[in-house]
Amino acid sequence: MKETVLSGIRSTGNLHLGNYFGAIRNFVRMQHEYNCYFFVADWHSLTTHPHPRDLHANVKTVLSEYLACGIDPEIATLYVQSDIPEIAELYLLMNMNAYIGELERTTTFKEKVRKQLDNVNAGLLTYPVLMAADIIIHKANKVPVGKDQEQNIEMARRFARRFNTIYETEYFPEPEGFSFSGNLIKIPGLDGSGKMGKSEGNAINLADDAKKIHQKVMRAVTDAGPTEMNQTPPEAIENLFKLMEVASTPETVIHFREQYAKCRIRYGDLKKQLSADIIRLTAPIRTRILEIQADDAYLAKVVKMGAEKARISASATLRDVREIIGFRKF
Ligand code: TRP
Repeated sequence: MKETVLSGIRSTGNLHLGNYFGAIRNFVRMQHEYNCYFFVADWHSLTTHPHPRDLHANVKTVLSEYLACGIDPEIATLYVQSDIPEIAELYLLMNMNAYIGELERTTTFKEKVRKQLDNVNAGLLTYPVLMAADIIIHKANKVPVGKDQEQNIEMARRFARRFNTIYETEYFPEPEGFSFSGNLIKIPGLDGSGKMGKSEGNAINLADDAKKIHQKVMRAVTDAGPTEMNQTPPEAIENLFKLMEVASTPETVIHFREQYAKCRIRYGDLKKQLSADIIRLTAPIRTRILEIQADDAYLAKVVKMGAEKARISASATLRDVREIIGFRKF
């Protein structure tokens, strides 16, 4: 039997090139190898009190962008968290076995307390419990997440184990973090250092139009140019070569690296080439995003199908869990 892989997607912000070459291309590949559940974590997004006007729009954006990247809703189960009431019930039940002390010690919680002191709500405290419910409701084995989520996965393992111990059962498998390691291509940002990220403001979004991409690339940080033959490029320049490696042909990369080595590089030419190549790479994805976003009937069909598939597995788990805990019909 295929193993079950599950990942929750935060419904904030647009996807950028870094997301694409990072997790998303792996999700697209994995959907053929595993029994995959991907969902938009819209309940989790409530911890920051989004305006009602934005909540739905954010979910729609995330769904459209994942679909445009190649998540196939006929193959993977793609759904919206709030469409699955069973998750809320399991969350309630799991809260009874989660201790305040361990939740308060979670690094993500402590960070939130520091960052949003005016809104330290109970949802933030129990965020790892909701996340555990998301995962174990489908008895997922593998959860692909970044470093920042590792502790939450550890908590999910602990809650699954504790449920099994309390009720003397082996019902829930312990979910594992799933590392893409070698398959992750790190995409640098345009600001001369570090990786591409939405909060860093150095990102090229998949939905950016040609003009926007051109502007962003032309503004990328460079330096005054090489002064010695064959010198090692500084990080800002190496970053542009790295971007070329994913967007341009191998010949183009070799050509510009040679120009650099011979101190004949013209950054303006390099950037024009890079922006043209990134535009060529992202244009078909952008077109798909716009098509999908304009097609409410298609999106409605996708989320309905996703909810139906997800609820089959979720309701089966809930039936078992109620039985294990001791709820009986009159
Ligand atoms: N907390 C995750 C994030 O911020 C999103 C998420 C919610 C999630 N539920 C999940 C990820 C379950 C994996 C499994 O990125």
